[in-house]
Amino acid sequence: MKHVIPVSPSFQPPIRNENKLKLGLFGPNCSGGLAPTTVPERWRNTWENNLALARMADDAGLEFLLPIARWIGYGGKTDFHGSVLDSMTWAAGLLASTKHINIFATVHTAVHHPVVIAKQIATLDQIGNGRVGLNVVVGWNPPEFQALGISLPVDRTSRYTLGQEWLDIVVKLWYGPGPFDWNGQHYQLQRVYSEPRPIVSPIPIFNAAISAEGREFAIRNAEYLFTAAIDLRTAREDIRALKANADKLGRRAGALTFCYVVCRPSAKEATEYHRYYAQQHTDHDAVDRLIDTMLPHSKTLPATVQAIIRNNFAGGHGGRALIGDPDMVADGLEAISATGFDGTTLAFVDYAGEFPYFRDEVIPRLERRGLRRPFRPHIDGNSAAAATRQCATYQTA
Ligand SMILES: Cc1cc2nc3c(=O)[nH]c(=O)nc-3n(C[C@H](O)[C@H](O)[C@H](O)COP(=O)(O)O)c2cc1C
Repeated sequence: MKHVIPVSPSFQPPIRNENKLKLGLFGPNCSGGLAPTTVPERWRNTWENNLALARMADDAGLEFLLPIARWIGYGGKTDFHGSVLDSMTWAAGLLASTKHINIFATVHTAVHHPVVIAKQIATLDQIGNGRVGLNVVVGWNPPEFQALGISLPVDRTSRYTLGQEWLDIVVKLWYGPGPFDWNGQHYQLQRVYSEPRPIVSPIPIFNAAISAEGREFAIRNAEYLFTAAIDLRTAREDIRALKANADKLGRRAGALTFCYVVCRPSAKEATEYHRYYAQQHTDHDAVDRLIDTMLPHSKTLPATVQAIIRNNFAGGHGGRALIGDPDMVADGLEAISATGFDGTTLAFVDYAGEFPYFRDEVIPRLERRGLRRPFRPHIDGNSAAAATRQCATYQTA
C-alpha cells in the first residue's frame, strides 16, 4: 500500500514566494567558502558555524541555502575546499534545525545512484516538512572524478545524456506509477519503486551550469538555472532566450546567479578589505588550480581579461562582485534583478560574521526598492507540516 502525503494547496516552498529577488547562501559547507584566501578569518566550515549561519538566514527570511558538492580540494596553502561537509547529511541536519528556509542538496549525477538519491531527497522532504530542494550537477572536474575512480563522460553531450536519464528515473520514482522496469543506456532497473514519495510536488530543482547544453537541460528539467553572470548584457539575452524556450515547452524556467559580498559602512572600507583578502592574501596556487580547471582556455585570453578573471576568482570563485557600502551593494543586486535574474546566492569571507550587517543594512534597502517584501514568519514561513495537518493522507494506485 503506497501513501503520498499531500500538502495543502496553500503551501509553497520559499523559493516559490513572491519576492522578485530571491536570496540564498552558497558554499558554506566548504572550507574557505567561495574565497581562496589565507586570511585567518577565512570561513571555517564546521557544523557549528553552518548551523549558526543557517539559523540566521532562516530568521532573516532568505529563500534558500545551497551547498557545493566537492570531493577534493584545490591545493594551495589552505587546500581551498579540501574540507567539505557532505551535502546530503548537511541538508538533513539543517532541515531538522530550521523552520522556513529551503535547503538544497547538490548532487553529482555521475557519482550517485538515482534510486538512492530519490529516496534520500524524499526522506529529507519529510525531515524539513516540504523544504528540500535538489541541485543537479553533471560534473566537470577531472581530478575529482579520478579521485573517486569514476569515469566522467568525456564530452558535455554525454554528461547531459547521462544526467537526463538519471533525473528521469528520480522523477519517475517520486511521482510516477511503480514498481517499474527501466532499460536505459546507463541504468537497467527491475521492479523498482521508492517510498515514501516527496510531500511537495514538484520538488524544487536547480541545475548548475553555464554551457548551452546545460541551459537546455535546465529548460527541460529545472525550476531555476543556476549560472554565472559574467557580463550582464549577455546574461540578459541568455535569460530572455531561456525563458522563451521554456515557454515553448510549456515550462517555466528561471535563472539565479552567484555573488560574493564585501559590504562595509563606507566604499573605502569595503574596497580595502577586498584588497586585503583577495589581493594581498590570495592563496595563489589554489586560484591557479581553480582557474585552470574551470577555464582551461583562459590563458589564450588577453592579459587584461586574464587579470579580471583572476581578481574575480580570488575574490569569490568567479561570482559577481558586490563590493561597497550598503547602497552600492543594493545597487548591484538591483542590476542583477533588472537583468532578468530571479535571484542570487551570496557568499562572504566570514559568512556568519558578515551576514548580520548585510541583513540589517542591505535587505531593508531591497525592500524599499520593491525587490523583496519584509519577511513575515507566521505567513511566509508556513511549513508543509502545518499545511499537511489539514489534509488527509490518501492512497495511490
Ligand atoms: C553556479 C554554479 C555552481 C556549480 N556548483 C557545482 C558544485 O557544487 N559541484 C560541482 O561539481 N560542480 C558545480 N558546478 C559545475 C556544473 O555542475 C557543471 O558541471 C559545469 O558548469 C560544467 O557544465 P557546463 O559546461 O554545462 O557549464 C557549478 C556550476 C555553476 C555555474
